[in-house]
Amino acid sequence: MSAPAHAFGIDIGGSGVKGAAVDLRTGELVHDRIKIPTPQPSTPQAVAAAVAELVAQAGWTGPVGVTLPAVVLDGVARTAANIDKAWIGTDARALFSAALGGRAVSVLNDADAAGLAEDRYGAAKDFDGLVLLLTFGTGIGSALLYNGTLVPNSELGHAEVGGAETEHRAAASIKERDGLSFEQWAAEVSNVLIGLENLFWPKVFVAGGGISRDADQWIPLLTNRTPVVPAHLRNTAGIVGAAMAVDAGLAP
Ligand code: BGC
Repeated sequence: MSAPAHAFGIDIGGSGVKGAAVDLRTGELVHDRIKIPTPQPSTPQAVAAAVAELVAQAGWTGPVGVTLPAVVLDGVARTAANIDKAWIGTDARALFSAALGGRAVSVLNDADAAGLAEDRYGAAKDFDGLVLLLTFGTGIGSALLYNGTLVPNSELGHAEVGGAETEHRAAASIKERDGLSFEQWAAEVSNVLIGLENLFWPKVFVAGGGISRDADQWIPLLTNRTPVVPAHLRNTAGIVGAAMAVDAGLAP
């Protein structure tokens, strides 16, 4: 009998460092998600210590996949739009590996991880061709997948639509900040989706982030052409995608 196909994923967000072992046959967590509050300030050293604590709590001894809300090239964070600026230029893979006693680590963008998970196990699993996942949160994250293959670091939250960055128009945090109704915010989201679909022509958009929980209140209001489906994995997508990445030895 072959060993169970488990891998460990950690999702680093603004408020929590969350992780669990994942069953890669089903995309389900093997145990309850462990959450440690994100250290403030969220410097690389402090976050690495939180990652080590989480893995120790889980009793996991194997390789680990980790997400960051940043462009990640060869394990190095290259941007830091909504996290501590000290991440820029940090070799996150080397840092986490050192904090975990030298074991193998994969690091990838948070939205890319969510895209991998939704594409294999979730909302996009029955779509072929180009899938474009957007996470609506503090910013907008994006993942482009073509027949299951990730094109990493797409950063469409910073694409300009109508003269403004998409995440400055339609992140969930903008709805909150400006006290927008779902109708008002959905109009902004529609503009962003129209701008992106005219450039990429995806088969489907997957809408992720916390606000996808209220999908029935705003997805029906969208006026763009391409179908939009809510994410299925919700708050486990980053963990599952990180586990997939380390399992595949992915090094974006
Ligand atoms: C960052 C992305 C990230 C997204 C969601 C954006 O501001 O540039 O790297 O994926 O926020 O966290």
